[in-house]
Amino acid sequence: MLSCKHILTMDDLSAADIVQILDTADSFSEVNERRIKKLPTLRGRTVVNLFLEPSTRTRTSFEIAAKRLSADGLNFTASSSATVKGESLRDTARTLSAMSCDLVVVRHKYAGAPQMLAESMDACIVNGGDGMHQHPTQALLDLFTMRSRLGRLEGLTVGIVGDIYHSRVAGSLVPALKKVGARPIVIGPPTLMPARPDVLGADVVYSLDEALPELDVAYMLRVQFERAERMPFPSNREYARFYGMNGARLAAAKPEMIVMHPGPMNRGVEISAEVADSPRSLVLDQVNAGVAVRMAVMYLLLGGAESGVAA
Ligand code: CP
Repeated sequence: MLSCKHILTMDDLSAADIVQILDTADSFSEVNERRIKKLPTLRGRTVVNLFLEPSTRTRTSFEIAAKRLSADGLNFTASSSATVKGESLRDTARTLSAMSCDLVVVRHKYAGAPQMLAESMDACIVNGGDGMHQHPTQALLDLFTMRSRLGRLEGLTVGIVGDIYHSRVAGSLVPALKKVGARPIVIGPPTLMPARPDVLGADVVYSLDEALPELDVAYMLRVQFERAERMPFPSNREYARFYGMNGARLAAAKPEMIVMHPGPMNRGVEISAEVADSPRSLVLDQVNAGVAVRMAVMYLLLGGAESGVAA
């Protein structure tokens, strides 16, 4: 069991909770390799995916995770819910609450929407990404991927590169890395940093080439073109030149350095196609880890331990 009822931000999870989630996800990874990938663990429990912002990876992996644990899953998107008729998030929460849901995964364009749901419902709430704030299960699957490939988390130096300002992934990954004893460095142009980057609690470096030799992991962030009318750099080509991961930078890094990206990728901007498709890119491993980690999150929040992982 975890020490929290909800996962709204990384602050909800202790270091011990994180280790428990990653260890449980390890067991579920093995289940996901079986021919029959289904456990009865959450039979009779109801999981709602309330995705009011677009998503491919997070929504589908939560949906698959719920199915593999035999939970009943319901999917709401912005276009398929009464929010298009103007229903407020609070009324949506009360409506779902009246139907006795056990767990709600929410993605919303506004930071704090998951907190508001947690205050309005009895169900466990999991933040599937809120505005520019946090995306905690992304950070958990990223830790899982790093640990699986590099064998440890403590002592790793992880460069989080690019559009730090808009990134809820960075918002969760920085505290997650610190909780497990890794060293995050945020790297990007000053125009894509928050006004007070020191508040993030990571080292701040403005040159990727300067930080590159130190990195065990280069975590490339998507440039979030949809969150700004005009990006504060001259061109995509200029951005790629200074902050993109390409073959030359890969060659200049530690030979064992891995490259990660939360997806969806802007190929040719923050990551070249050559690197994205290279054996040192763990982008698809991250997607694969997403199912096992989200199974672990649901299982531990809903007390599935009573039934046992290996059932
Ligand atoms: N990484 C991530 O959150 O991807 P989606 O937007 O596809 O869910």
